[in-house]
Amino acid sequence: MPLLKATACACSNIAFIKYWGNRDDALRIPVNGSISMNLDGLYTRTTVTFDPNLNADSALVDGREMSGGGMTRISHHLDQVRRRAGVETRARIESVSNFPAGVGIASSASAFAALSLAAVKALDLRMSEAELSALARLGSGSASRSIPTGFVEWFAGDSHESSFAASIAPVDHWALVDVVALVSKAHKATGSTEGHHTAATSPLQAARVADAARRLDLCRKALLSRDFEAFAEVVEQDSDIMHAIMMTGRPALFYWQPATLTIMAEVRRLRASGLPLLYTIDAGPNVHCLCPADYADQVDQAVRALPGVVDTLRAGVGHGAWVES
Ligand code: PMV
Repeated sequence: MPLLKATACACSNIAFIKYWGNRDDALRIPVNGSISMNLDGLYTRTTVTFDPNLNADSALVDGREMSGGGMTRISHHLDQVRRRAGVETRARIESVSNFPAGVGIASSASAFAALSLAAVKALDLRMSEAELSALARLGSGSASRSIPTGFVEWFAGDSHESSFAASIAPVDHWALVDVVALVSKAHKATGSTEGHHTAATSPLQAARVADAARRLDLCRKALLSRDFEAFAEVVEQDSDIMHAIMMTGRPALFYWQPATLTIMAEVRRLRASGLPLLYTIDAGPNVHCLCPADYADQVDQAVRALPGVVDTLRAGVGHGAWVES
């Protein structure tokens, strides 16, 4: 058998309506749907080489040879692709993200989306976009949303086949920019895989899930009609609700730092003064500040001036995963 090799890239994404908690942990089937946008320019590039001379999978991720739990997770994911292709050949993975890991930008989303597409291409498997999205989901839930283009909705579903993401608006639908205010570049203490397991221990999670369809509806409508005010209202509420679950689960997860709150307050103050601007926060202390592209310079400057902000990153709306030839 010849070497079977392919390279693929995928952007990270930021969720407007968040994924937090699974109804099925093994299959990563979420308790609620979510909505996101891909982050242009913040991506992972992954080469997968299936080689019959290898007797184990190996992976070089951002220049580090993987071992332990991280390697097992990658290998399990490759097993899913091998099973579908009917092969047992081991693979060498080389993967680089162009943004720092563990800073509240989902590197697992872009990484598992790129890995899925590269492995599928290398083995010449024919898959629809929905099937590829569902496959990426098995590696990391949010990776399902980095497969389709632009603005994306992940339908929770209740089975492997029905839990996938699809584009709800193209890249050029709305020129939004994510100005990420970095408060810390340190790795987060608790990753999202463990975090999803604690979600159900919060007495508030049932209320969050019961109200999810309403928030999804409001977000989808505001996004499709480019109604920034309505959009900001629901996106901030959804982020705050998720963090309430994190804080009240057991063990409790407190991701916010003092500077996180300083930025949130400044975003609200600027919006009250007429600037279209909102915040949303993932499983970390950094704050994603979203605004229309015309305001990005002003927002970047305002955020950088705040105490505790060590740097900013900027991303517009990104495309779906692509194969590099
Ligand atoms: O896909 P995971 O397991 O990294 O979970 C992502 C969880 C959040 O980033 C906090 C929310 C989301 O929907 O992206």
